[in-house]
Amino acid sequence: MKFIHITDVHLVGDKGALNGLVPFVHLDACLNDVVQWHRDASFCVISGDLAEFAETNAYQALKMRLSSFPLPCFLMIGNHDNRTVFQSVFPKHPKDSNGYIQHRFEKNGCVFLFLDTKKEGRGVHEGQLCADRLDWLKQQLIQAKDKPTFLFLHHPPFNIGVPYVDNIRLQEVEEFAAALKHGQNIRHVFYGHVHRMTYVNWRGVPFTSLPSLNHQIPLNAASVQGEFCDEPAAYGVVQIEDDQLTVHFNTFLQRNSLHQT
Ligand SMILES: [Fe+2]
Repeated sequence: MKFIHITDVHLVGDKGALNGLVPFVHLDACLNDVVQWHRDASFCVISGDLAEFAETNAYQALKMRLSSFPLPCFLMIGNHDNRTVFQSVFPKHPKDSNGYIQHRFEKNGCVFLFLDTKKEGRGVHEGQLCADRLDWLKQQLIQAKDKPTFLFLHHPPFNIGVPYVDNIRLQEVEEFAAALKHGQNIRHVFYGHVHRMTYVNWRGVPFTSLPSLNHQIPLNAASVQGEFCDEPAAYGVVQIEDDQLTVHFNTFLQRNSLHQT
């Protein structure tokens, strides 16, 4: 089975530039690349920071694009999003009984759990899994039993050595770790937020993140002027087999043929 992971699209309502790049141009290029080369994927997930300023028209424009996208697409929210605005535009998107954008998807005997780590508050960028959301996770992991289980969340529970994002990671670290202990077969966790491609093994669980579709955060802050840089955007092509999980970091905007001389 194959699925597509996209994260941190940071769309803006006027469809213009953000940090010198145009998010909708990158999103369109990404979706077109997926349709051309990975139409056989089972689903697509966008793991938060859908809209930079959480504008209604940014979500509406995303909805319009996804209406012609052939894969099922699961949406998650991040620190830049607004849950109420998102749900006003996507009222039918799955959510849990408390209204959080959390849901379970099962296919080919695999369980996929999508979490909502958005913390309410203007200008709040750190992540939160409150008791209700953690309880939902715990119950889902118990129900999954020994089925291969894959988690998705926006904010990671660990530092990656980049203070810009380490300062706004998930806050409920030990609570999240305790919830994971209810999983019998957690194969992998996919996350966003850090605008970098990383592999992290945290407490025995493998995690991967992806670059943003728009602007990236440098590994060394002093290596660039300003906060962001133009390291390549990428989407993830994830292949799941019984004994293997493969993540391709597909830098779709940099794929020019080279002619041998
Ligand atoms: Fe982001």
